[in-house]
Amino acid sequence: LKILFVSSEVVPFAKTGGLADVAGSLPQEISRMGHDIRVVMPEYSQIADEYLNQLEHKLHFRTKVGWRDDYVGVNSLENNGVTTYFIDNKNYFDSPTMYEGKDKHIRFSFFCRAVLEMLPKIDFQPDIIHCNDWQTGPLSMMLKENYKIYDFYKDIKTVYTIHNLRYQGIFDKSILEDTLSLHSNHWYSGAIRHDGCINYMKMGINMSDVINTVSKTYAQEIKSPYFGEGLDYTMRMNDDDLYGIVNGIDYDDYNPATDEHIYANYNVNDLTGKRKNKLKLQEQMGLPQCDDIPIIGVVSRLVDQKGLDLISCVIDELLQEDIQFVLLGTGADKYEQRFREIGQLYPNKMAANIKYDAALARKIYAGSDMFLMPSEFEPCGLGQLISLRYGTIPVVRETGGLNDTVQSYNGVTGAGNGFSFTNYNAHDMLYTIQRAIYFYHNQPDVWAKLVKKAMKGDYSWKNSALEYLNLYRKLEAGDKKEVD
Ligand code: GLC
Repeated sequence: LKILFVSSEVVPFAKTGGLADVAGSLPQEISRMGHDIRVVMPEYSQIADEYLNQLEHKLHFRTKVGWRDDYVGVNSLENNGVTTYFIDNKNYFDSPTMYEGKDKHIRFSFFCRAVLEMLPKIDFQPDIIHCNDWQTGPLSMMLKENYKIYDFYKDIKTVYTIHNLRYQGIFDKSILEDTLSLHSNHWYSGAIRHDGCINYMKMGINMSDVINTVSKTYAQEIKSPYFGEGLDYTMRMNDDDLYGIVNGIDYDDYNPATDEHIYANYNVNDLTGKRKNKLKLQEQMGLPQCDDIPIIGVVSRLVDQKGLDLISCVIDELLQEDIQFVLLGTGADKYEQRFREIGQLYPNKMAANIKYDAALARKIYAGSDMFLMPSEFEPCGLGQLISLRYGTIPVVRETGGLNDTVQSYNGVTGAGNGFSFTNYNAHDMLYTIQRAIYFYHNQPDVWAKLVKKAMKGDYSWKNSALEYLNLYRKLEAGDKKEVD
């Protein structure tokens, strides 16, 4: 198959969240399975020079965005056998932030159009265009409205993956003609309008041939008002074409046996390196070095979604336990300040690292005993998968992908690979952490088994990449009716 994977962020070039990890690893797995898959993203000025300097200029042309006549540069780079194209326009992508700014609706409308128009020029006619999140929402609409009349485009099918329904790209009605070049009649279609605004996410959902989210549980949850972010009705309307495919992680990249960023390597048969990681992490964090005290790690964007208010609510109680707490992340001021303060109050128990640091993240995954992820909602979540791979036991709330990948330990049957709780409640979380601490201290054989089981689990892309391929094939064979 020939597939174009369209994403507003891709590891290792630019990342704000898990989407970038997916865009940096799923295409590689599909490519290893023998398909011609290529990736395309904006050429942000945030991309590190080491990559920007290697880009090969392919071609340039001009495109229309409403009344605008804009330059499009197409540059490319090969990374582990997959070609990534970079759409260049300094006016749009040389900006202090990737997703903020008054012109973000124009930026990503421009991006979608540029991507479609570059295809015949680079002589790549994909069977499938795979879009992701609101930034790529307009693409399938443009394809259907403006390009399907041409032979080159008429058989291309679209997949749209929702990584997080909360971020939708909501804009004023006026952008319909001004930016999307759509006749004002489209305002009445309901496919792109939501609550009196233009909604890029809704556009992607309604105009793509199939949609999926990144776990089966989240695919169910978003059909209900609590998780639907105002689009639950839209999700129910698209029920027949809505799939759930859980994310994987790159098993070569995230491998405690070879990871160069951690203090010592280890594997499931020899865990001495894991102990070294713990002691070194304690040293680097300025915490007392002690093998017997469980370390609870958190690596997260500090936003409401991640359940930080639960942690914030019971942190004093939690720190009465004989534990150490290591947190890493940036985000909302209220959380950054709160955790900084707690770090100062409990210098021997809490290390608050308010920053983005990919190497430290890996040291925390490797050096902690437990990994806490009490999300309010979690489309998939990658942190729990990485922690399992590194033998660090996840403590999670049963939602979305956390529900699909972590099963709470059952003392009777011995089943489970972590600890979990159901309700979004701080004391339910606290109790669950205490339960994990109990097993850590009092049943070391159970704990050792959990660690081994976690490390032996398969959370790689293999199965999920096959599920995507099945979806692509079904579409290509025309099994699915098109959404008009
Ligand atoms: C978003 C979601 C997260 C998911 C990731 C990749 O960041 O919040 O749950 O794992 O996308 O799909």
